[in-house]
Amino acid sequence: MAEEAQSQDHVSVYFEGRVAIVTLNRPEVLNALSPDLLCELADKLHLIDQHPKIACTVLTGEGKAFAAGADIKTMANLNGDDILHAEWLDKWASIAHVEKPLIASVNGPALGGGCELALMCDIIYASKEAEFGLPELTLGVIPGAGATQRLTHTLGKHRAMEWILTGKRFTAQEAFELGLINKVIAKDMLTTTVMSLAHSIAEKPLAALTLAKEAILAAYDGPLQHGLSEERKRFAACFDTENQKEGMQAFLEKRKPKFT
Ligand code: CAA
Repeated sequence: MAEEAQSQDHVSVYFEGRVAIVTLNRPEVLNALSPDLLCELADKLHLIDQHPKIACTVLTGEGKAFAAGADIKTMANLNGDDILHAEWLDKWASIAHVEKPLIASVNGPALGGGCELALMCDIIYASKEAEFGLPELTLGVIPGAGATQRLTHTLGKHRAMEWILTGKRFTAQEAFELGLINKVIAKDMLTTTVMSLAHSIAEKPLAALTLAKEAILAAYDGPLQHGLSEERKRFAACFDTENQKEGMQAFLEKRKPKFT
């Protein structure tokens, strides 16, 4: 299937005609988004944006998950200042600013930063087994990669509150019924269906595709940028609390957190 392939540690890229297939590749930790992975993902997407023959990208996860969120191990001991000045966290913004259409092919759990990554994509197709959720509060923090803004924009205040304040996981079908994702597909048909969608987009003129995406995003980008910077400040503030240390440590030790 691949015409050309490049592979690096945490992110693989394959090309099929005018479509790039980008796969998060840390299946042993459910594609947890480590700083290295995020940097590599942002760099690869930037290269694809420059590639004159590629018009559309599909983003998916290797193994049973799409992505189980930011890598808790690498964040557990950070403080608020670390978060505010972490260059790798700026990579979220460069992923959100990819110019060519980006389709999320959600093959399994998309939680925390994994859910936020899917929300940054332009179209979301998911398999029946996929789950979506923002469990950050169970770790003593808040979503830090755009969910307080993008989820609220799509679902409205009350649903977003329920998702974020409970940290509950929702099925792909529930996400579809709420209008968060475009389609739910049987697992064995996910790749074929997404690739057919990607090729139908990729055959359009590239300049028109990127201009259409830019214009659609302009519909809410002003308030979004302000909201994202407000979210980052509050995400950082969580890392100066004992409960963030306890929440993340408890996850790593596979026990229930004892919040104070
Ligand atoms: N970070 C680091 N490691 C993770 C991880 C994460 N986000 N999610 C899973 N893993 C690791 C587990 O520690 C485990 O590693 P070991 O085999 O070494 O123990 C491995 O991946 C497999 O995970 P589980 O054994 O937990 O698999 P499961 O099938 O029992 O459960 C799951 C799956 C429900 C997704 C569970 O792994 C889980 O709850 N993960 C954490 C989800 C989460 O809280 N995400 C939010 C992260 S914070 C964030 O994303 C902040 C932000 O906004 C940017």
